[in-house]
Amino acid sequence: MPRVTIHRKAHFNAAHRLFNPAWSDEKNLEVFGKCSNPHYHGHNYELIVSVTGEIDPVTGFVMDLSVLRKLIQSEIEEAFDHKNLNVEVADFKTVNPTVENISVVIYNKLRTKIRTSLDISVKLYETPRNFATYSG
Ligand code: NI
Repeated sequence: MPRVTIHRKAHFNAAHRLFNPAWSDEKNLEVFGKCSNPHYHGHNYELIVSVTGEIDPVTGFVMDLSVLRKLIQSEIEEAFDHKNLNVEVADFKTVNPTVENISVVIYNKLRTKIRTSLDISVKLYETPRNFATYSG
């Protein structure tokens, strides 16, 4: 059967601060700019999750998109939406919540829930112009 990629878009708002605790505030400001603001700031994150696999001849699906939608909702949106990533999300207690690292955390959360015969890929927009992709 043909291998096809399906995509699901999702969205969450979250606050973060980029910083390295080993550095001074001055050094953090130099490296991370406005994103190192000690009082945090928010982003409107846009997420695209892509799943690639063979079309199931019975259903015509690579994966049921409503299952994917619910998975993103329960694993990602409920965990991240309207949260302070540094303070409220355990994954970022010791990991700097850059768009790169958030992508990896999202990928790892979804990877455990989607069967291994399907390849997955995450594209995460922190701003309309800044985004990261991760495929494991
Ligand atoms: Ni930021």
